[in-house]
Amino acid sequence: MAFLPAWTCVLAGCFSASLAGVSNVPDLYPPLWRTSAGRFSDYRVENGKYVIDPWVYNERMGMYKILVNTTASYFENIVANNDQNILWGLPLQHGWQYRTGRLADPRQRKGCGYESGDPLCISVDSWWADMNYFLSALPFLAAVDSGVMGISSDQVLLLPPPKDQTKFCLNVSSCLQSFPETMSKWNAFYQHLQDPSSSFEDLLKYLWTAHVSSLDYASKIFEDRLEYYSKPEASFGRNWCVAVEYLAASLFPTTLVRTYEYQKGLPPRMLVNGDRAPFIKDFTVFQNTVLLIYKQSKHKYIKYMFLKSYLN
Ligand SMILES: *[C@@H]1O[C@H](CO)[C@@H](O)[C@H](O)[C@H]1NC(C)=O
Ligand SMILES: *[C@@H]1O[C@H](CO)[C@@H](O)[C@H](O)[C@H]1NC(C)=O
Repeated sequence: MAFLPAWTCVLAGCFSASLAGVSNVPDLYPPLWRTSAGRFSDYRVENGKYVIDPWVYNERMGMYKILVNTTASYFENIVANNDQNILWGLPLQHGWQYRTGRLADPRQRKGCGYESGDPLCISVDSWWADMNYFLSALPFLAAVDSGVMGISSDQVLLLPPPKDQTKFCLNVSSCLQSFPETMSKWNAFYQHLQDPSSSFEDLLKYLWTAHVSSLDYASKIFEDRLEYYSKPEASFGRNWCVAVEYLAASLFPTTLVRTYEYQKGLPPRMLVNGDRAPFIKDFTVFQNTVLLIYKQSKHKYIKYMFLKSYLN
């Protein structure tokens, strides 16, 4: 364990150095944030329902945009850009997935998610995209159900993916029916959000409980998707799930700036065979270190120490 102080030093160093660079707030937003749909009226209406295609990046991002916007008033906004909203963690993670190619077809059939094909397409074969469905569609529909969106529960319909439709719920009632536990955890978060006596820490607790529930379900359903990836990427995916549980346990505050800073440590591209942290040349020291520590999934103590240094 003698090397721990060295690691924490490296991390703390990277962390404070990177924080110093934050001045230009608009750069913190996920890709295509500004041009994504941001109101229900930006979507098609069919038979009195808003129709959203969550398999198109800017439409899925639009759900987050509505979510972050309609929940803004529940957070203290010292600066006017809603940056204390703890729901920022979700769209920022999704933006990282998009920017790093993780939403594209992992079998590289050069269509869905590629510049040369349909760049905004989100592939149903992408493990990251399927995991994220449970962290976008479910929190969004639970918000509709809990009343924070100001529309009724049967007014939104999500379009199904081109295959494996039965793995995904498409509206409030079918999500409540298929994933009752997870939906009720998201609902509990929104109930506490609307309760003025809830503290910031209470809200983080309910948010992370719901988040972990979404991931627990999804990771069981989509385990087979990891076969499409290189070994390092598949194991990074598994380790990422474990790391999220540590973030949850530490009640990491998923505000705009904190999430942005956290994401600087995540791999800036998909991992390929031969990538071995901490020796990946095109990764920063911070990214190499984070990846190395993610790999030590059995060494819980190291992970705990790492997160403590990362988060403080
Ligand atoms: C929410 O969206 C409306 C309309 O698009 C916009 O005028 C408002 O500034 C947004 N609020 C926040 C807190 O982002
Ligand atoms: C919700 O979706 C299910 C199937 O996914 C459908 O049977 C049901 O009619 C839909 N409910 C509403 C209110 O749109």
